[in-house]
Amino acid sequence: MSATPFDYTPLLLAGLPQPVAKWTGLAKYNFTGGNNDADELPLDGLIAAANAVLTREGRALATYGLNSGPQGYRPLREFLVTKLKRDAGINCIADEILITSGSLQALDLVNGVLLTRGDTVIIEQECYQGSINRLTRLGVNPVGIPLDNEGMRIDALANALHDLKRRGIRAKYIYTIPTVQNPTGTILSEPRRKEMLKLAGEHGVPIFEDDCYADLIWDHKRPAALHAMSQSNNVIHIGSFSKSIAPALRVGYIVAGWDVLSRMLAIKTDAGSGALEQMVLAEFCAPHFADHVPELTRGLRKKLDTLMEALNEQFGTAAEFEEPKGGIFLWVKLPDNVDTMALYQPALKAGVAINPGPEWSVNKAHGKSRMRLCFASPSHDEIRRGIAVLAEICHREFGVPARISNVKRGDRPRRSGTGLTVAFGGECAEPQRIGGSTMTYQSLTPGQMEARTARFNKLQTYQRQNFEAHDIPQGAVEKVTARKVYPVMAPADYQGRSAGAPVKGPRGLIVSIAECEPGNGPGLHRHLNTVENFFCLCGRFEISWGDQGEHKSILEPNDMISVPRGENRKFFNISNEVGRLLVMIVPETDQQIDPITYAPSLGQEIENEYGKKALEGLQSIGFKFEEPVG
Ligand SMILES: Cc1ncc(COP(=O)(O)O)c(C=O)c1O
Repeated sequence: MSATPFDYTPLLLAGLPQPVAKWTGLAKYNFTGGNNDADELPLDGLIAAANAVLTREGRALATYGLNSGPQGYRPLREFLVTKLKRDAGINCIADEILITSGSLQALDLVNGVLLTRGDTVIIEQECYQGSINRLTRLGVNPVGIPLDNEGMRIDALANALHDLKRRGIRAKYIYTIPTVQNPTGTILSEPRRKEMLKLAGEHGVPIFEDDCYADLIWDHKRPAALHAMSQSNNVIHIGSFSKSIAPALRVGYIVAGWDVLSRMLAIKTDAGSGALEQMVLAEFCAPHFADHVPELTRGLRKKLDTLMEALNEQFGTAAEFEEPKGGIFLWVKLPDNVDTMALYQPALKAGVAINPGPEWSVNKAHGKSRMRLCFASPSHDEIRRGIAVLAEICHREFGVPARISNVKRGDRPRRSGTGLTVAFGGECAEPQRIGGSTMTYQSLTPGQMEARTARFNKLQTYQRQNFEAHDIPQGAVEKVTARKVYPVMAPADYQGRSAGAPVKGPRGLIVSIAECEPGNGPGLHRHLNTVENFFCLCGRFEISWGDQGEHKSILEPNDMISVPRGENRKFFNISNEVGRLLVMIVPETDQQIDPITYAPSLGQEIENEYGKKALEGLQSIGFKFEEPVG
């Protein structure tokens, strides 16, 4: 007998939020949320801490609140007393700290004791979505104050407070994320903190300080917390272990005077936040927090560099951003015609998840062409590939960027990208005897590396622009080139090498890294004057050679193969990840370093798959599809 399913619909409260869609997994390239870098999680330390603390005091779990009372595990609060004093200048005692289930619960508790429908609060115009949504649900009016690169603009704050006063409205609080703001990444300067406190005092409005990113500052320099600078107990301070250790632990905290903390405690009716995570955190953090944080921020900084580099490469001048002072987000402005709410779905369909700007701003028009990108959780490769896909989708939907990969090297700091000098520059510093003649090589200093990378990139840009100018589809391009070539070392006057670009230079050993997407790689071709050696760094390549590529071999990491000059060869990444081959070539003449011809069968393949126009386009920019000469 099949029972009719019970219908809850008529019983549900009016005004509930929309039902949540079922979780279907994370996007392939996930730039959303406040997730952290899984590789930087101090897992061994947490395991050891869990073991030690449970062995020592695990039986305390039999008691609600672990014999520490409703404010949370006392050793964790004591760790916070020391940490907040050291890092943020806050003088507090353990009894002024309430441990919460993430700082989201802290937001709820502060709102719970202060806000009711119709109230007004002041917030930063660009602001954490979780805070904006809470205010909307409570029916509270947020007054958004614009930011600049020093955080909330105090002139605008003064005007807003003045305006509210004139209208007889006393804001319930000034909510600010002053130390690495979400999403803009700014830090409120010390003078502005003083002015904010002064204005707050004059208008009788407390400050609600959300400091959850304060540990993640590149130079580890931060002004004292507003809570520390206040003379009058008018700042409620909240923080979190989500960004410094792990968000899934769900541990945050509130620092406030007992007068208001005791009221929050009265509405925190969950009989205490999860005890195990509090115990593990206290055990881990006391000895290790101070060492862990610089390591974490170093890794995050590198990812930010990769993201900015990828945006520069893929979007050029179409993506504008200020370098954040720390944290895990980049706030990006695209041209005005881009609507990031409308970009969201097609990007997601292509595997890229972004946070559209309007969800992170109370000024929807200002947020329209902006987006927030979290760079902490995707890998470096995912960042590069995800941004390339995003540029393609954005180009398709909004014509932006006008050119894919129109490399613009404005004055933003650029890095030489690969750090490969370490591996090769030094070792080849001495004159070498290769192929019967002595050649001189130089060790590449970082500056030279930078210059050479720029030349390679210029060459690649030249080539890409050529491809674009002739409307050659990306798939056809990937049949004749690696996706990207990074230089490692080359003779001093070397100009770069690539089919389709005019290159000349001296003879010498040239080492580069060719990068290929999964399922891609240049088709059958021959280098007329060079022996080419391939060493597999990552991925898995099928190497074919022979007239029709009839001989095949698989190259796995650390495998190497040498292909004689003039022989047809083809390499093709058969793994699911980006593959990299170290390519070492020794040109035997210096007429033109490395003339390449492609097999007529490859030309045929391109014509079949992409049409005659694609083939002719390639031929018109110097790609030859012919039998070998000589
Ligand atoms: C400004 C801000 N406050 C609070 C939170 C909530 O963090 P959690 O509840 O994980 O501590 C976040 C999360 O991203 C945030 O960005």
